[in-house]
Amino acid sequence: MESPFKSDILKGKVALVTGGSSGIGLEIARQLGLHGARMAVSGRRQEVLDQAVSALSADGVTAMGLQGDVRSPGSCEAWVAALGERWGGLDVLVNCAAGNFLATAEELTVNGFKTVMEIDTVGTFTMSRAAFPALKKAAGGPGSGRSGACVVNISATLQYGATWWQSHASAAKAAIDSLTRSLALEWGEFGVRVNGIAPGPIDGTAGMAKLAPGARDLVGATIPLRGRMGTKWDIAMAVVYLASPAAAFVSGDTLVVDGANWMWKPKV
Ligand code: HXC
Repeated sequence: MESPFKSDILKGKVALVTGGSSGIGLEIARQLGLHGARMAVSGRRQEVLDQAVSALSADGVTAMGLQGDVRSPGSCEAWVAALGERWGGLDVLVNCAAGNFLATAEELTVNGFKTVMEIDTVGTFTMSRAAFPALKKAAGGPGSGRSGACVVNISATLQYGATWWQSHASAAKAAIDSLTRSLALEWGEFGVRVNGIAPGPIDGTAGMAKLAPGARDLVGATIPLRGRMGTKWDIAMAVVYLASPAAAFVSGDTLVVDGANWMWKPKV
């Protein structure tokens, strides 16, 4: 779909999307790049990263791949250092790396619970913490008049109520939403905005395939906005907005992008 934003809205920005080598993360990287940002994507598998960088380059996006794991502080710090060396800093961080699977609380092992917490929540903290010195520098400090730097945390809506067989991911995403508010509070004075996006059911993603296998029509029927599934583009456009000067005074918020799905109730 054609973007409603000007194609140079993020010109001059350097952005990193963790978990950006596939799925929603890759589309976020593509759209940030198509709007002028130089793009880095991180991921665990080198061959998947290489494919992502080729696809982004084919679309005219300036892109680089950064291999590693958000569970490793060393990886996160090395990525920020690489961006500093190659492109002089970092303006936009999108924390998109996540892990998930269906498991009843009874069957879920403690290590299974911890693994999702460590990728989603601790990974978001680890990456944000590693990026903060560069983001602070990019924002230019108090009164600098520069346009600011930002973090966008990709969350979910499953934690707003309770979701079957998702005790681990619900806890992890609720903690991410809390982190979004805490970091916005602490980093505002440095000109670093911190927001989140909570996607609903998104077509063609690992999340849909893993978490709602064969249930596309059932899920579609619970989406008030025209009964359509969300697309990766819908999420990427929300990130472009939050990263752009149009969101200059938006911080500490998590924007729900789900066609009103989470508040769905049957007609009675
Ligand atoms: C029960 C499972 C399991 C499963 C793994 N575990 N898969 N338990 N059911 N299907 C348990 C393991 O038994 C182990 O515990 C622990 O989790 C760690 O497993 P590993 O395979 O060693 O971990 P790792 O290699 O780090 O893999 C992490 C992962 C994996 C989360 C398990 O699936 C992954 O990397 N996924 C990334 C891609 C992904 O999931 N994308 C979808 C994101 S969707 P024990 O006790 O045996 O050692 C998403 C959307 C959220 O986030 C919102 C949706 C609406």
